[in-house]
Amino acid sequence: MASVQQMKNPLLVGRAIRAQLEHEVPKDLPLERDFREDSHYTITDHVQGLHRSLSKDPRTLDLVTSLVSHLHAFARETQLTHAEWTKAVKFLTRAGKESTDYKNEFVLLSDCLGFSALVDEINHPKPSGCTDGCEPGPFYTDDAPVVPSGSSLAKTNTQGESMCFLGTIKNLKGEGIKDATVDVWQADGDGLYDIQYPDREEPNDRGKILANPDGTFSYRGILPTAYPIPSDGPTGDLLKALGRHAHRASHIHFTVKAPGYDDLTSALYPSHSPFLGTDPVFATKKSLICQLTEEHDPKRCADMGFKEGEVQGGRVWVWKYDFVLPTVEQVEELKKERAGKSRL
Ligand SMILES: [Fe+2]
Repeated sequence: MASVQQMKNPLLVGRAIRAQLEHEVPKDLPLERDFREDSHYTITDHVQGLHRSLSKDPRTLDLVTSLVSHLHAFARETQLTHAEWTKAVKFLTRAGKESTDYKNEFVLLSDCLGFSALVDEINHPKPSGCTDGCEPGPFYTDDAPVVPSGSSLAKTNTQGESMCFLGTIKNLKGEGIKDATVDVWQADGDGLYDIQYPDREEPNDRGKILANPDGTFSYRGILPTAYPIPSDGPTGDLLKALGRHAHRASHIHFTVKAPGYDDLTSALYPSHSPFLGTDPVFATKKSLICQLTEEHDPKRCADMGFKEGEVQGGRVWVWKYDFVLPTVEQVEELKKERAGKSRL
């Protein structure tokens, strides 16, 4: 507490002054220079200098210094008007108000500006020859059943055409990886994930598949179709203003894990799907597009595990893909290499 002597001084009373006297806020710094946009000492210099003087957290200082630098450069480069600044604040306020547990407008905004894809690329670099990764999206759940390879992941009467996925988990030497698990989740033939159905009682179109010792695995299911991301909020309005649409190409999500290898979260896309080149969230990569084949022969369909009358749509779409995983060491090496380059 401030002493009685101090409290008599009008400069030393009031909540803010008391907080400083009690060391709740840092000691004041002299204001030695005026900052002006047309001088050699700008608001940017002043903000950065203040942060450098006071911050005790090096990583926070690093992040905020870079953010302030780019944010201020953006305003100067665009000569941002007050009206535009106000519009941006209203946009972000609306994004906050319209976000829910199931629809986060800030995540959508990050996705639609390619920011999520960039952060994913920085954190999960892939050595040449490995399967590219992409963002998992909002529909993953942790309640999928653990099933052996060859299982069906689609419940009876799931909308859509039948599909059989045949995969292999390999390393960069082309060897099958043992003890791999493949977490799969996907939309159905209506472009809907199970959790989008209000009467969902148990997981559907998802499973944690235990791959065979040689790295191979398969599952039967439904061919997913394209679907839109939520576009009834501010992010949707921004997409429209930019002449973009909200539809994602058909895809299947995978997270592949194996001891000693870097986890791979990715998605695969059939080449027949629309919207491959205009993905609103920039998760579609050319290397992840697959050419599917059709199987009409009942015997071959039976060999894949389909029982008589179980094939939906009169054919089975056959989807094959070899996942290539880097080791943990290979990824760490690559991260160090890229971090070194980005600081040059
Ligand atoms: Fe998805």
